[in-house]
Amino acid sequence: MDRESERAREIDAAVADVRAIEKAGGVTAESLEKIKARLIRLAARTDLFSLEDYPPPQPGSKRNSCLYRISEDADHRLALYANASVGGYGTPAHNHTTWAVIVGVSGEERNRFYERSAEGGVRETGQFVVKQGTGVAFMPEDLHSIHIDAPLLNFHMYGLALEQLHRREYYKSDERAWAVFPPHSDIREARFVRA
Ligand SMILES: [Fe+2]
Repeated sequence: MDRESERAREIDAAVADVRAIEKAGGVTAESLEKIKARLIRLAARTDLFSLEDYPPPQPGSKRNSCLYRISEDADHRLALYANASVGGYGTPAHNHTTWAVIVGVSGEERNRFYERSAEGGVRETGQFVVKQGTGVAFMPEDLHSIHIDAPLLNFHMYGLALEQLHRREYYKSDERAWAVFPPHSDIREARFVRA
């Protein structure tokens, strides 16, 4: 089997398992731990997933991180992306309005976790560095921010595709105000097309 076909087979098998886990257990912290473990197994296939396969933006381009869609159901559920970054990338604290799981393939992504503070802002509750063999999982209202210093490839999986998420909130710390992310619009199609 050629490498692209093998990669497609491994992605399909992982997504099928995620679909079954979610169907059997619903969206619970326990289900998300199982989904995370399954995606960590997929991410262990560094022979099939590399920054050469999913190149980050060129130096000097406007973005320093980009997303490749590697799987998504016809109803836009169970969206799996490869996130490729050159580093120097970060986000403000935000929620997802759907479940989210991040696992590392190569490089390191620092996650900061937050809760809403009594004053209406955010309060950091902890940190975790996602890298090969590890991951983080979030329920729809959980808050995090990500911080990437050096080249990285990881997987992000969401219960619903990013283009469908119109109410994701983020916290503008300089203005001490919440705002809504516009739906993501720069996702590169990277699903395998069978001949
Ligand atoms: Fe996020």
